[in-house]
Amino acid sequence: MRQYYVMSQRDRFLMAGVMGWPVMHSRSPKLHNYWFAHYGLAGTYVPLAIKPEGLEAALRALAPLGFSGCNLTIPHKERALALVDAVDPVARRIGAISCVVVRRDGSLAGSNNDGYGFVHNLLQQQPDWSADAGPVVVIGAGGGARAVVYSLAERGAREIRLTNRTFARAQALEREFGSPVKTIAWDDRHAALDGAAMLVNTTSQGMVGESPLDLALDGLPTSALVYDIVYVPLQTPLLAAARQHGNRTVDGLGMLLHQARPAWQAWFALDPEVTPELRAVLEATF
Ligand SMILES: NC(=O)c1ccc[n+]([C@@H]2O[C@H](COP(=O)([O-])OP(=O)(O)OC[C@H]3O[C@@H](n4cnc5c(N)ncnc54)[C@H](OP(=O)(O)O)[C@@H]3O)[C@@H](O)[C@H]2O)c1
Repeated sequence: MRQYYVMSQRDRFLMAGVMGWPVMHSRSPKLHNYWFAHYGLAGTYVPLAIKPEGLEAALRALAPLGFSGCNLTIPHKERALALVDAVDPVARRIGAISCVVVRRDGSLAGSNNDGYGFVHNLLQQQPDWSADAGPVVVIGAGGGARAVVYSLAERGAREIRLTNRTFARAQALEREFGSPVKTIAWDDRHAALDGAAMLVNTTSQGMVGESPLDLALDGLPTSALVYDIVYVPLQTPLLAAARQHGNRTVDGLGMLLHQARPAWQAWFALDPEVTPELRAVLEATF
């Protein structure tokens, strides 16, 4: 692990957490606490069950409690934009904060590492992947979709076919991200797979407790890569269907693992590794 500052982090008790409502389903404590143990660091990462009306007070409590920062999950990512003292350009563009950093003066800086996690998971699992290999179909237009569309556009995707149950939300993303985003009516989603190089599910469909994503893969070229950002369960019905159809697949767990690295760099000036062992530890929780 690279360590950026000369001061040893072993001299401090390192603290961070995740704020969400609900939050107990989060795999983030398992992930971050694995790194504390693996690198022999004194520290802890805790789930923080924070109701929406308590978010501002909870964020302001981070500094006095000695936290280096926190992650944000459902439903806080968008609202936190207005509550922190500074927002980095990536988070501003995505329109949501996934990570809060307590600065030296106690003020709060917001960033968004979901797009980083999305891309670095992809590159680890499919090193030859290129965003401009052909049309990319993105299903969904929520918070996850924003980070995905931002990253694909940043990486040079030339055509992003975006479809969402609520059409107006997809149109809002097209307005914000402009070309290369092209919105497609929800009823036309099956036909949108024609000639695609990649398909990404960013909806909550397929998640445990939810119905499978209603999408017929017949028109999808077998050369296309299929990526589901849902990671509970690891093998979603969409990924199972894609493998049956002959496509390569990428699951969403690695996105969670990789987004945690820039958080550690910002909180602790440390750069932990995403290894097969870490992945196995998380997989064992499913
Ligand atoms: N792997 C990771 O690190 C990672 C990171 C972020 C998110 N995620 C996962 O991604 C999923 C979405 O998260 P999010 O934060 O983007 O949630 P979100 O902002 O609430 O967006 C939910 C999306 O799902 C769609 N949807 C919900 N019910 C649907 C239905 N019955 N039929 C069709 N579409 C439906 C919504 O469409 P409408 O606009 O029509 O409501 C919207 O596009 C969750 O499973 C989350 O755990 C994973």
